[in-house]
Amino acid sequence: MSEFHLQEEALGKAYDSKQMRRLLKYLRPYKSLVVISASALFFGSGTQIALIALVQIALDDYVMVGDLGGLTMIAGIYLAITIARFGAEYLQFYTTAKMGQETLHDIRMEVFAKLQRMDSKYFDKNPVGRLVTRVTNDVNTLNELFSSGVINVIGDIIMLVAFVSMMLYYDWLLSLAVFAVLPFLVVTTLIFRNKVRTVFRDLRVTIAQINAFVNEHLSGIAVVKLFAREKAIKEKFDTLNRRAMDQNLKQVFYYAVFFPVVELIGAVSLAALIVVGGMQITAGLLTFGELTAFILLVERFFRPIRDLSEKYNIMQASMASSERIFQLLDAKLDRAGLTPTVTIPRSAASSASPSTTPALSLKGEVEFKNVSFAYNEPEYVLKNISFKANPGENIAIVGATGAGKTSLISLLFRFYDFQSGQILIDNRDIREYDIFSLRSRIALAPQDVQIFSGNLAYNIRLGDNSISDEQVLAAAKDVGLDQALGDDFDLGMEIQERGATLSTGQKQLLSFARALAFDPDILTLDEATSSVDTATERLIQNALERIMKGRTSFVVAHRLSTIEKADRILVFHQGELRETGTHEELLAIGGVYQKLYRLQYQPRNIERSARSAVV
Ligand code: CTP
Ligand code: MG
Repeated sequence: MSEFHLQEEALGKAYDSKQMRRLLKYLRPYKSLVVISASALFFGSGTQIALIALVQIALDDYVMVGDLGGLTMIAGIYLAITIARFGAEYLQFYTTAKMGQETLHDIRMEVFAKLQRMDSKYFDKNPVGRLVTRVTNDVNTLNELFSSGVINVIGDIIMLVAFVSMMLYYDWLLSLAVFAVLPFLVVTTLIFRNKVRTVFRDLRVTIAQINAFVNEHLSGIAVVKLFAREKAIKEKFDTLNRRAMDQNLKQVFYYAVFFPVVELIGAVSLAALIVVGGMQITAGLLTFGELTAFILLVERFFRPIRDLSEKYNIMQASMASSERIFQLLDAKLDRAGLTPTVTIPRSAASSASPSTTPALSLKGEVEFKNVSFAYNEPEYVLKNISFKANPGENIAIVGATGAGKTSLISLLFRFYDFQSGQILIDNRDIREYDIFSLRSRIALAPQDVQIFSGNLAYNIRLGDNSISDEQVLAAAKDVGLDQALGDDFDLGMEIQERGATLSTGQKQLLSFARALAFDPDILTLDEATSSVDTATERLIQNALERIMKGRTSFVVAHRLSTIEKADRILVFHQGELRETGTHEELLAIGGVYQKLYRLQYQPRNIERSARSAVV
């Protein structure tokens, strides 16, 4: 069973006081709503009691006596209380819903903000689908707790107590007759609860599986079509879907049995009531009005009991959800997420005219000193790496797949913290920099270009409004995106989710434009391995040259042209830095680089390697 499976399945206690206290803290900003809602609830409950008492009074003191004038007055009071009750119920309903929605909004914001701060390691370990569930499903479950659970449970309990006291007040013998059926009710409820809990849990797992399945197979729809797997996958989906249906029906079945059984028990107690009540009236121990009021009470008495058993499910689900949410909120961040210490000073020029791209004072000297790094110790993917890049130097990083090139780049951004060694930028340990300003001075054009839905300008400036339209346009033109997009080129052009409407080359150029628009001091590029046509190739080549000029740059290179033009090449092999030098120097050594060159980069092999890259 997968971890995912287990996590979604966990349904623990229905009540955990520590967790509940923490949840209730979210209500703190909405104290006035809580007060209004609770008062309305009290008031509303009071009216229910009052109405029943009124019926008793009307029957005994007016109908039986034949005082019709007084009866009109009672009817008037009855109407007034009913109207007041309507008002109270409206107020209670509205304020509880508002309270629920407000808290929901706050929790969702907090969860999302926390997710944004999570380090790369966290995302390596947690599938996105599950995190989406945290933000949507789990938070929604809490909504039920806030908007229908907490306060109503209290309301139900108050009502129960009130009804029982009133019943005892009218006639204790009759009350006992009603309470005699309670054990049956309790047993039925317990059985029902157990059955429903199991089905409910199974259903949750199935639904989580359906979500994951749809997500995976729609994201990978191209592969599904390519291999003509539609039919088989549809059948697999059908199995899951059918399971969900069966579980739903099973749940419905239990409800369908439970509710009538509760009704039946109620009816039996009513019958007992009429017999015992009739005898009491004959004996002169009870009035007709009191018996009527009693019957009304008993009817209402069973309702909160039924509701409470239903709320149990809500409570249980929300305890499980809140546990998962709190787990996420409490997750410790890697050191990288926690240490904003020294802030890189912004230059005087930028503070004087805020519309210009803020210029910071990184010269761009980068030095790795004996850096070793493992995603999971002890599997080191970078071993004792040392090199130094001078300001403005263009460095190419080459190596076979899995050699550690992307890992090296991500250390520079502190996406991960390394185990030993030191990385210095401008002679200062990168861990001393404020992480946000550090990242704002180093740009990355990653291997897989992430495109967000929105227009072209948004995708270049990523919502940073300090970058003007002119700067965005200049960056786009500088990398030749206008040529690559042809007539479509327009800053307002809409780009689809995951960049489905862009070609690989266009995406690559867009990511260059993005890097350029921020005017970084240090530039890193992780070239995509897939090849593009010669025209785009030339565009990319020109763009690369332009954006690397005057900046320290690291390019994980797959194109011979990029490698040849670099000031220096670092050759990685299985996590080690094996060779350093220019293209000619390295070829002369006749080592790893020469082998790589022969296999991958030599012009006559390009076509072959391109084809294998696509597959
Ligand atoms: N790795 C890992 N966890 C990650 C990323 C990578 O354990 N989150 C491992 C990979 O399995 C690989 C090693 O780290 O063995 C180096 O990966 P990477 O730096 O991504 O290799 P590249 O040299 O960038 O390979 P490619 O050319 O294929 O991009
Ligand atoms: Mg890589």
